[in-house]
Amino acid sequence: MRETTPQPVFLADYQPPPFLVDTVALTFRLHPGRTQVLSEIRFRPNPAATPGHDLRLDGEGLRLLSASIDGKSLMAQPDATGLTIPAADLPEDGFLWQAEVEIAPEGNTALEGLYMSGGMYCTQCEAEGFRKITYYPDRPDVMARFRVRIESDLPVLLSNGNPVDSGPGWAEWDDPHPKPAYLFALVGGDLVATTDSFTTMDGRNVTLNIWVRHGDEGKTAYAMDALKRSMAWDEQVYGRAYDLDIFNIVAVDDFNMGAMENKGLNIFNSRYVLATPETATDADFASIERIIAHEYFHNWTGNRITCRDWFQLSLKEGLTVFRDQQFMGDMRSHAVKRIEDVLTLRARQFREDAGPLAHPVRPESYVEINNFYTATVYEKGAELIRMLRLLVGEDRYRAALDLYFIRHDGQACTIEDWISVFEEAGGRDLSQFKRWYGQAGTPRIDVTEDWQDGRYTLTLRQHTAPTPGQPLKEPLLIPVALGLMGTDGREILPTQVLELDSPTLRVTFDDLPERPVASVLRGFSAPVILHHKLQSDERALLLAHDTDPFNRFEAGRSLARENLHAMVLQQTTAPDQNFIDALRVLLRDDTLDPAFRALVLRLPEQDDLAASLHEAGHTPDPDMIYDMRRAAQTAIARALEPDLARIAQQMETPGPYDPAARDAGRRALRVQAVTILAHADGGTAAAALFQSAYNMTEQMGAWAALLAIGAGEQEGAEFYRHWAQDRLVLDKWFMAQILHASPDHAVPLTDELSRHARFDWKNPNRFRAVIGALGANPAGFHRSNGTGYQLVADWLLRLDGVNPQAAARNSAVFETWRRLDTNRQSLIRAELQRIAGNPGLSRDMAEMVARMLG
Ligand code: PHE
Ligand code: ZN
Repeated sequence: MRETTPQPVFLADYQPPPFLVDTVALTFRLHPGRTQVLSEIRFRPNPAATPGHDLRLDGEGLRLLSASIDGKSLMAQPDATGLTIPAADLPEDGFLWQAEVEIAPEGNTALEGLYMSGGMYCTQCEAEGFRKITYYPDRPDVMARFRVRIESDLPVLLSNGNPVDSGPGWAEWDDPHPKPAYLFALVGGDLVATTDSFTTMDGRNVTLNIWVRHGDEGKTAYAMDALKRSMAWDEQVYGRAYDLDIFNIVAVDDFNMGAMENKGLNIFNSRYVLATPETATDADFASIERIIAHEYFHNWTGNRITCRDWFQLSLKEGLTVFRDQQFMGDMRSHAVKRIEDVLTLRARQFREDAGPLAHPVRPESYVEINNFYTATVYEKGAELIRMLRLLVGEDRYRAALDLYFIRHDGQACTIEDWISVFEEAGGRDLSQFKRWYGQAGTPRIDVTEDWQDGRYTLTLRQHTAPTPGQPLKEPLLIPVALGLMGTDGREILPTQVLELDSPTLRVTFDDLPERPVASVLRGFSAPVILHHKLQSDERALLLAHDTDPFNRFEAGRSLARENLHAMVLQQTTAPDQNFIDALRVLLRDDTLDPAFRALVLRLPEQDDLAASLHEAGHTPDPDMIYDMRRAAQTAIARALEPDLARIAQQMETPGPYDPAARDAGRRALRVQAVTILAHADGGTAAAALFQSAYNMTEQMGAWAALLAIGAGEQEGAEFYRHWAQDRLVLDKWFMAQILHASPDHAVPLTDELSRHARFDWKNPNRFRAVIGALGANPAGFHRSNGTGYQLVADWLLRLDGVNPQAAARNSAVFETWRRLDTNRQSLIRAELQRIAGNPGLSRDMAEMVARMLG
């Protein structure tokens, strides 16, 4: 709870730690209400800092039982955030700190520090949770060796590193790799493991365990498979091998985020571990594969090389996201993966960058660091690395990474360190590129063309609109991949990368046989908003013939968006015939990857349309967008009914279920076909698919298609009867109904489901499945009477009292409020002010609403 106004922390204020830690020995006596934590910490003065500092240790919510320095007990007086030992009481060349504290994991609903979930003990320390376990310099640039002893009657007791020894009621672990406290982890519970092994390229035999609650042991096979493939991939592609004898993964039901890369002991939200064909969709399988890989990859990018301070968060997160994207592309399809990544980037990061929560990939200040685990730090951070690789080339990228690992292994680093290895290995100055890390906002590129006497001129202009605290923007170095297509569909100019490094860049091409069709920003070579006016037949040409799969997709998407914009603005009820014709050609092209066809067939989401209408200078009307998107779907369904029905048949996968890309793509296209078809056939095909489905992808897809046309009630009841005992599937049951509810039904339904006996709102997954789902149903959430806003604000306030981090994260549903009409704006402003005025508000939530209110 907030007592004084929390002060922001500034990047510019960074000071090296006055004391370093060599070793930490911890003993835990686990007890739900009174866990004792004994610590022995060897400190020495940091030669890089000025001498004579007091010792400041972070600590929150701890009951200090005793403390001593070099065996001499002291009367430390803790304050609300830690304690200070005056320099005068500290031996000059190092000392042993010993303390005994008591904590209560059972009452820890914030899920930060040591807490309990489903009867087991677990920890979450990133970013600043270790200070809720014991007194410590809780900052990432203090790296130490940890040794841990756990005392408890529970059968499974785990911590970081390698097991030392264990006996009845105790276990000891030793982690030989120095690490910051945020990577500390402990687990205690009655768990079962799926065990396997992996032999590293340097011959180390590693035991792999995935620990779950009894009853879930049949759901770990895919996660284990993904882990082994991740380990092999990191060796092959980055030359990085695992460095302990054991790798443990634990699944917990109550977890604020996706997963956590604690050294040798990754802790996962159970939704990113547990899967069977019957209970998990293809999208779930893909998320598991990606997140298992992501956390594993952190072992090098994050753990062995960590961040100097939390402003550098993207150093590990942007890089690790980029690595998991590369891995997924290698495992599945690069073309499809790139399209999906760009869709997510736009839906989450562009949205963030266009509103009051916009911030640079490396922020300059924060009040609560938990509020900066964002799409900008993660996804835009990954885009910056993709651009760096494009700018220096693949070979030099690999050389830069080798240099990074050699030079910085065991260190806590900065973005400057990162840029330096690229400058050295890439042989070029990157000071302008570095602006990407400090400048918020999505650049816009305007493309104009000129064709005269056989000379084709392309002009690119960049502009970045102001963002909070950054009124003026400097020109960025933007790699723009370009190709030229002939009107017969042949490529005239293969991809080349232009470097747009000033406000304007002009390029000319002589001796072209005809005016070409430019394919700009191939592969989405930079995270920008591209404005390039083309005729619809030119878009259709790119959709049919571009050699770049991303721009093929993008041409279809632009056509769809333009059609929907026209429908919304002119209130016509059908898209152009040439758009429908283009979709038909695509649908019938059986040489195309089904996954690709499924993506092109999916119309831009309501939120995408709202954002793009706003970007084009209009005030988006959520109801109109909802209506027109449906009208477009209906028109497409009627025009393409026979083709869609044929696809739905043709894309049947015989089984047994295979989660790999090939079958997943077929299912995606099948579900997409049935979803559109429902707007013409009243849901007949969807209802049939629901009944015949042998996997969750098709069952869920079919039910969602029915819900979207206002049907599916019987199927919902059947679904509940069948799955009520499976907590992860139950999340889907809650979520789907709200996500697909009609605009006037969404709020009352959310209200009703929030009274459901199984709405366990303290569980972050369940909260997101219900309250979060309403935010993801734009026409429902943005009811013009404000009932959606009110309901969400009430729940955010309630959640803030028990789990500030989760509440603050969910509050971002309001981030787009300034693009709405004045009525909705004032309704949301009132709710944000109501939240802000709440006396017991957490620091997390206070910062979020203050930023949103601007
Ligand atoms: N570091 C985790 C990841 O990206 C995310 C995380 C942050 C988890 C904070 C928990 C708390 O892999
Ligand atoms: Zn991460």
